[in-house]
Amino acid sequence: MKRYTITAALPYTNGPIHIGHLSGVYIPADIYARYLRLCGKDVVFICGSDEHGVAISIKASKETTTPKSIIDKYNKIIRKSFESFGISFDNYSRTSRQIHHDTASEFFKKLNSSNKFIEMTSDQLFDKNHNKFLADRFVTGTCPICSYKNAYGDQCEKCGSSLNANDLINPKSTLTSEIPILKKTKHWYLPLNKYENFIRDWILDTHKDDWKVNVYGQVKSWIDDGLKPRAVTRDLDWGIPVPTKEAKGKVLYVWFDAPIGYISSTKEWARKNKKNWEDYWKNDKTELVHFIGKDNIVFHCIIFPSMLRAHGGYILPKNVPANEFLNLEGEKISTSKNWAVWIHEYLEDFPNKQDVMRYVLTAIMPETKDSDFTWKDFQAKNNNELVAIYGNFVNRVIVLINKYYMGKIPKPELYTKDDEDIINSIKQIRDKISLTIEKFRFREANSEMIKIARIGNKYLADNEPWKKIKNNPERTKTILFISIQIVSALAYLSEPFLPFTSIKLKGILKIEKQIEWKEILSSNIIESGHKINRESLLFEKIEDAEIYNQEQKLEITKK
Ligand code: MF3
Ligand code: ZN
Repeated sequence: MKRYTITAALPYTNGPIHIGHLSGVYIPADIYARYLRLCGKDVVFICGSDEHGVAISIKASKETTTPKSIIDKYNKIIRKSFESFGISFDNYSRTSRQIHHDTASEFFKKLNSSNKFIEMTSDQLFDKNHNKFLADRFVTGTCPICSYKNAYGDQCEKCGSSLNANDLINPKSTLTSEIPILKKTKHWYLPLNKYENFIRDWILDTHKDDWKVNVYGQVKSWIDDGLKPRAVTRDLDWGIPVPTKEAKGKVLYVWFDAPIGYISSTKEWARKNKKNWEDYWKNDKTELVHFIGKDNIVFHCIIFPSMLRAHGGYILPKNVPANEFLNLEGEKISTSKNWAVWIHEYLEDFPNKQDVMRYVLTAIMPETKDSDFTWKDFQAKNNNELVAIYGNFVNRVIVLINKYYMGKIPKPELYTKDDEDIINSIKQIRDKISLTIEKFRFREANSEMIKIARIGNKYLADNEPWKKIKNNPERTKTILFISIQIVSALAYLSEPFLPFTSIKLKGILKIEKQIEWKEILSSNIIESGHKINRESLLFEKIEDAEIYNQEQKLEITKK
């Protein structure tokens, strides 16, 4: 059985998550994991909270509290948002846990003892007032590559380049408005320049066709520019202590420890489930896939693979299907400006409508370029697609079977070519969904899924069973028998996209059996004589007033 290790970027625990996170990372990862499980594959779907780094310290000083209380607070909120949205992680860990501290420390020690680091003393930016070195997000300045004014000390979020704080033009401390001074300090560097050929052979030469253009392109431009040694330690007081005596008071760089979090989270899961974690990380038949946003590409395609390579024994990702960004009502989502749709708030305003948001966020997923969420479009997709197509098709079939046959599936008596054609076309859609999911084209997969209901509606409209019940009862039975097979297929085939609806629909149909994806519709899913439940609405119309409220909520944040 084919084995998959699927990871989704560990979110920083410095705030709740919003629709951009879901659309860019967690929903595609969840669709992929659910689909592979339905194909009978051996899947572990891994995530956890990223609880170190300057982002957490900054948030703690903003809220005048400790990093520890920040991570506890947001870990809870984030964990609950994922759970309520049906993101089906097999394990959701935290990088503050002992198992992770141990795993990351061991990793560092292994590289250190096999001389994979260079130790260097150099001038680093320092804030005199706070007596602190200004690493990463403690310093901003102009990006030397793209001239963006608010680049961080370790990365420009505009062009995606990974930076060294000293490269910033006009660096400014984010703690004070002080101009930083330079002060000498020693750090451990991973000489990425030595891994250029490895990255070139592995990504540029072999993944031109199967990796996304945006991902491939970013990697290529970094390699073309040349890689430089990169510090993996920091002078900070929040993080995993560097496990060597000479490094007292220093911690591991957050981007060194966080991706190792995938490994420690897998170990945690394996312990609980009596599995061998190494099967998921060290067996070259296992496929490792990282789901991330575009600002994480350099870390997952260059730095982490180089770390794994330096360590030895680990597999490399088979693919890194990074997405672009989601905007909101035409503007960039911004945590600091509160320009976002927060998941925990959405769940309060629209309880039990997780699938609606999942559907919309999949339909507009920023797969090849940035895309835009608007509340009006959200309403339209719910009302015109989920209600009018999916819900309507299912409802008509269930109502008619209850009305004509008291809920008992009729026995088909008179087939026509139409019946065979429609079953075949649904099977083709099933296979098209497979193909598109396997190629990480989730938007297309999602629209194929809804097409099943569209075809079902057309079949009903063409065959008009309600007109035949008196004069042609044999034909009516067959039409509704075929229709209920399609409804059942939809219950299975929509599971990766609409997991809550799938469960509800299976409940109405009273079907429980597991069917492997490829076998769906190979034979009848539901037999004659089986009794189903009465109809109940899967989706409901969203009124203008509800949309207006949401738009107002956003308007207010602009003032
Ligand atoms: N916390 C990072 C972010 O939100 C992602 C970390 S992914 C991992 O951008 F690989 F480091 F885990
Ligand atoms: Zn830049």
